[in-house]
Formats: sequence, C-alpha cells, structure tokens
Amino acid sequence: MKKVMTRDGSETFVNDELGQSYHSFTGAVEEALKKYSEPLDVAGLAKKQDTIKILDVAYGMGYNSAMAIAIALEANPSVSVEIVGLENDPAILDQIGTLNPAIVGYDKFHKMDSKNLEFSYVSLGGGKISVKVLLGDAHDTIKELESSFFDLCFFDMFSPSVVPESWSVGLFESVFKVLKKGGKMSTYSCARLARDNMKKAGFLYDDGPKVGRRGPGTVAWKE
Ligand SMILES: C[S@@+](CC[C@H](N)C(=O)[O-])C[C@H]1O[C@@H](n2cnc3c(N)ncnc32)[C@H](O)[C@@H]1O
Repeated sequence: MKKVMTRDGSETFVNDELGQSYHSFTGAVEEALKKYSEPLDVAGLAKKQDTIKILDVAYGMGYNSAMAIAIALEANPSVSVEIVGLENDPAILDQIGTLNPAIVGYDKFHKMDSKNLEFSYVSLGGGKISVKVLLGDAHDTIKELESSFFDLCFFDMFSPSVVPESWSVGLFESVFKVLKKGGKMSTYSCARLARDNMKKAGFLYDDGPKVGRRGPGTVAWKE
C-alpha cells in the first residue's frame, strides 16, 4: 500500500492490489466528518445519550471512529463513546502510528496496532472512551457481537464495483441485527447493489450527503 496526501491535507493509502484508495482524494478527514459523523448526527446523539455505541465496519486507520469521538466530546464533554471496529488487514493497523490527521484526539489512536487491538481512556469531561478492533473478515467477526447493541454503524468497505462480496445481504443482515431499533448506518456509496442488499436485509434508506465523489452517499436505518 502507498501513502498519499488528499486535498484537505490529510493522508490516506492506496491499496495497489485493488487499485482502491482508503478515502476520497478530495479529503480523508472531510469524508470522515461529512459522510459519517454529520449524517448520523453524532453531535445530536451525544447531547441526548450518556453513552454512544458505534460499529465501524472497515475500520482501516480509524479516521471515522476518531472523528466521531471528537465530535461527540465537542457536543458533550462528559459523554461516553464505545466503538467496535471490524478490520481484516493487520498491515493497515500498523500504519496508524505514522498518521497525524487533523482530528482532535487522534494521537490516542497511536496506541493501536495489529498487536494492540484496544485502548480506552477517560476524557477530560469524565466520559469513558473505548475502542476495540476485531481482526478478521467482518462477515465472521460481526457474529461475535450482541444483538440490538449499537446506535450507529459506519460502513466503509472498498467499492462495491470492485469488491461486491463486501456489500452482501448477509453482512447487512448482521449489521441490522446488531443495531438497536432506530439505529442508523451511513456509507459513502449509492451503488444499486449496496442499496438493494440493504433493503433485502430490512433497512430503509435515503440519499446521504454528496461530498467529494460524484454521487450521494446512503443513510439507512432500522425502523
Ligand atoms: C475504504 S477502507 C476504510 C477506511 C477507514 N474507514 C478509515 O477511516 O480509515 C476499507 C477497509 O476495509 C478493510 N476490509 C476489506 N475487506 C474487509 C473484510 N472482509 N472484513 C473486514 N475489513 C475489510 C480494508 O482492509 C480497509 O482497511
């Protein structure tokens, strides 16, 4: 994998084997904010709940999780945030310590690599922040998780046109199962396959924001 700079000054990687980048070239940090934390209203949830539980499917370098923690703590300094990430490539976790995106608190993520899959700390406002990655194929590791547990899911697999199997009905069914009633999922893709499979799994969906890429993203929810 090759490290590249995106247009908002944050770094990402390109996976040479798939010809896929980990983020949009228009801005990796921008994408974490505008395609995940903002459409799922992490700030609003942090004001309403004592604890927010987030499933980060395709954790990568953890930008989406780090942004969610920063946004939640900005909205409510005493909120607790519990994150479970699913990632199958130890090599990307070993790159986290080399990255310094402009996300408040990302330095805490430097504690993580392929041998240190979890960390936690108490924020300045007294909230408990915990991040844990399950290493392996998300189709399998998601089965270890409790049903109706998560408020939100970030779904950030490589493109459905290149890796359709990562957008399977089975994986969306598992996400549906571990989300609470009213739970929401966001993804950057609006591909037909992705949306059809979300629908088959029980989700309702609508367009997400249009940022950086040609089409809108998708926000889906469990009624
Ligand atoms: C587009 S990148 C995600 C970037 C990440 N969300 C971030 O903010 O840094 C896709 C990630 O999914 C991982 N991945 C691909 N297939 C997977 C699978 N079947 N199970 C778990 N992770 C997978 C890749 O290794 C890669 O890190």
